[in-house]
Amino acid sequence: MDNVFELNHPLIEHKLAILRDKNTSTKEFRELISEIGMFLCFEAMRDAKLKRVEVETPLKKIKTGKLDEDKYAFVPILRAGMGMLDGVIRVIPNAKIGHIGMYRNEETFEPVNYFYKVPKNIDKREVIILDPMLATGGSGLDAIELLKKNGVKKIKFICIIAAPEGLKRITEKYKDVKIYCAHIDEKLNENKYIIPGLGDAGDRIYGTK
Ligand code: PRP
Ligand code: URA
Repeated sequence: MDNVFELNHPLIEHKLAILRDKNTSTKEFRELISEIGMFLCFEAMRDAKLKRVEVETPLKKIKTGKLDEDKYAFVPILRAGMGMLDGVIRVIPNAKIGHIGMYRNEETFEPVNYFYKVPKNIDKREVIILDPMLATGGSGLDAIELLKKNGVKKIKFICIIAAPEGLKRITEKYKDVKIYCAHIDEKLNENKYIIPGLGDAGDRIYGTK
């Protein structure tokens, strides 16, 4: 899968070990989702195009590069994607923010869209979708579809844990979408939860169960 990038770093494995642990507190879980989101955002921006600018240091005038932050939009998939927002806006503080509300019907495992609000001129921006879990890929596919219908041309997807099944589904349908994850896990179980995963990300971020 050419368009899938997995963070391969001992410190990420260390942080994931704490995140996966069922005894980790809500506070620490939230902090780690945000922090790993920040590292993923760095990786996702590796191909960023910079505009050339002139900067004067205390010692010399130089030509260097700066990001046009305004052309980016983060779109968290509610609820769990909101947990990554703090981290990514530390990397690109002037990016615009949209929201897509989606929950997975736990009987059919199909996503249900309940909210959609994105910044104006979304079709002219590069959009980075945020969701900690990519399981069957249903929510991701629907989010990508909604954005494409609105004319978005460049879409990236950042997730913390991805299942091979969901990655295959998204990359087969959308060959132009790059997916960045901290780890690709083994598989889905019969309830379409990621194994070993970290459980229900939304419930663990918000302490709802
Ligand atoms: C989780 C997760 C993804 C989705 C992944 O959300 O945050 O959005 O499931 O599953 P999929 O790849 O099979 O679509 P959930 O439905 O639990 O909603 P929540 O974020 O409100 O908890
Ligand atoms: N959603 C989650 O929060 N966790 C999973 O393992 C699958 C979907």
